Amino acid sequence: MGTKGHLIATRFFSSTNASSYDRIVKLTTLFRDSSWKKQMMKLMDGKNKRILDLACGTGILSSFIHDRSASSKIIGTDLTFEYLKLAKNRQSYALLTNSLAEFLPYKDESFDVIISSYLVKYAQLSTMVREHWRVLRKGGIIIVHDFTYPDTKIMRILWHFYFQILTELGRVISSWRYVFSNLDKLIQLNPWVNNLVSELDMVGFTSISKKYYTCGTSAIVYAKK
Ligand SMILES: C[S@@+](CC[C@H](N)C(=O)[O-])C[C@H]1O[C@@H](n2cnc3c(N)ncnc32)[C@H](O)[C@@H]1O
Repeated sequence: MGTKGHLIATRFFSSTNASSYDRIVKLTTLFRDSSWKKQMMKLMDGKNKRILDLACGTGILSSFIHDRSASSKIIGTDLTFEYLKLAKNRQSYALLTNSLAEFLPYKDESFDVIISSYLVKYAQLSTMVREHWRVLRKGGIIIVHDFTYPDTKIMRILWHFYFQILTELGRVISSWRYVFSNLDKLIQLNPWVNNLVSELDMVGFTSISKKYYTCGTSAIVYAKK
């Protein structure tokens, strides 16, 4: 099994760039990453939850979740083993597994919350949404965040200019060269927000909402089972 998204993810994330990921995500999002993650946290309610941090990477989200809901149990899962090794150092996860978002090694109705940041553009959407439905308990919620292609002319000009700078930066930071020169196309060609909303609706999720941030360069989708 392997989709184009999985192949891209395996080229993007590896042992060569795992150790610099946290710094790079801060810098390249112009420090917006933490404010987007804080917005995700605002959508989480209550304590003592079982939370699945899907595509947890090096575990940045777990510290935000821990601040918001210290009594909750956080399970992390990711495709890239080298990233998981760093997530383990954070010690905020009850369990970490090396698995695909589309085929989760968890029982039905195991989680109250499924949260993911920067995963959806690599994922096989319909399989992932059915898997969300399976492992989420009734009343559980999902919170999905990723980059989006802005829809105003001025923002598109700035956005493309910014990615030209990133491509140049990739000449200097070789471990991120491939990502910096291909991420723009991946985002531009993937209208994941509306696709995800229709998949969620089809499977039976309710209270579906979407919200854009930072002039349409990022979005969060929320839904309830
Ligand atoms: C940009 S990192 C995001 C990490 C973390 N969520 C964060 O916010 O910093 C994207 C992660 O998605 C993982 N990934 C991509 N496709 C995946 C899939 N289909 N299943 C599980 N993990 C996946 C990659 O291994 C990588 O660690």
